[in-house]
Amino acid sequence: MFTLKSLPYAYNALAPHISEQTMRLHHDKHHQTYVDNLNKLTEGTSLAAMSLVDVIKVSAGQANKAGIFNNAGQVYNHDFFWDCLRPADQVMAIPAALLEKINHDFGSLEQMMVEFKTIALSQFGSGWAWLVLAGESLQIIKTANADTAFLHDVNPLFTLDVWEHSYYLDYQNRRGDFIDAVLNNLVNWDFVANQAGL
Ligand SMILES: [Fe+2]
Repeated sequence: MFTLKSLPYAYNALAPHISEQTMRLHHDKHHQTYVDNLNKLTEGTSLAAMSLVDVIKVSAGQANKAGIFNNAGQVYNHDFFWDCLRPADQVMAIPAALLEKINHDFGSLEQMMVEFKTIALSQFGSGWAWLVLAGESLQIIKTANADTAFLHDVNPLFTLDVWEHSYYLDYQNRRGDFIDAVLNNLVNWDFVANQAGL
């Protein structure tokens, strides 16, 4: 039985950059539906007792398990996404070791954000943009629909949901404004550094 993970902050904690209305719909409707669908699709099968990560691994690339993969991937990606964000009023400096790594691999924090925005804007349709560790190097990648970074032999550090349900109420078609607002105000840098082992 898979369960909906609670948000690590209040529904209105990300406002004004992401509204309470968006968060209630996104978490309580979209995320919940992925959990419900995954439970329905795995009920009575050996997958029901597996970890979410294992369900994703065994269903990836299997045409007869596409529904399971899509819902498991979306549950995992949303669980991870919520942890990547911090309340809007929480002041947080980037840990020095992480900033040093970003400066080394991208030239500057600003350049990293430019590259992240470019990749996130270039995801055609639904998907996710990621900051990852590929070997020893920081990289920005994107995945389509429910695909998830760890299937691509990288260690995910941060993700941004660029499905329209993530931003349309607040930003309509202005995905770029949504990306800017999150990168500049809501990134949980302590979580990112921890994921990177820094
Ligand atoms: Fe989403």
